[in-house]
Amino acid sequence: MGCFLTESGPYTIGVLISGSGTNLQAIIDQCALGNVPASLAFVASNKASAFGLERARQSGIPAFHISTKTHGSQQAVETEIFRLVRLYHVQLLCLAGYLKKVSSWLIERMPHQIINIHPGILPFMGGDGLYGHHVHERVLELGLKISGVTIHFVDEQYDHGAIIAQECVPVLPEDTADTLAQRVLALEHQLYPRVISLFARNKIRLEGRKVFIDD
Ligand code: GRF
Repeated sequence: MGCFLTESGPYTIGVLISGSGTNLQAIIDQCALGNVPASLAFVASNKASAFGLERARQSGIPAFHISTKTHGSQQAVETEIFRLVRLYHVQLLCLAGYLKKVSSWLIERMPHQIINIHPGILPFMGGDGLYGHHVHERVLELGLKISGVTIHFVDEQYDHGAIIAQECVPVLPEDTADTLAQRVLALEHQLYPRVISLFARNKIRLEGRKVFIDD
């Protein structure tokens, strides 16, 4: 896959998943095409059956099942993730459908280096219980005309960290949660690699809760 050398070596990312890994695939593809100047060092999933692990392996990326089943406690899970972060010199940890809450222990060790993608417009369509399909169902229930994607820093609260990027899709009158999910997911696949590319090119600056993109 594409690997870009900077003065200090390649910009290196890790990805955490729990499921299908279509966002992971978009990141793998855009790295391979050279559109994201980064090297994907490892993928970890808390679910052994996550198809994303298979996607990673097919691309020759080290892929690990790390869960309380394999490692005991959630602290031991995060200790193992952080061991991999250090082993591979990972500079950015990208959550892509990772369904476990990241604890303050890991956040403190990787300040402003953990980001997440959310299939809705935060802060309105997020928080406890508003993840995955629940977001799209709520958007339809409320009769909203737009939905979208948010990429944000991870902090101690669900869906709460500073917002890095946000883009919208229309909600159409005939939409079901499935059709809306597909439209949002297609946008996710565009936006996540673009944001990772900005990180890799050192274009993201955080001041308080405000993110500036110096592109
Ligand atoms: C995406 O919708 C993402 O926003 C959410 O979980 C989903 C993961 O999908 N956090 P995939 O595994 O990347 O296909």
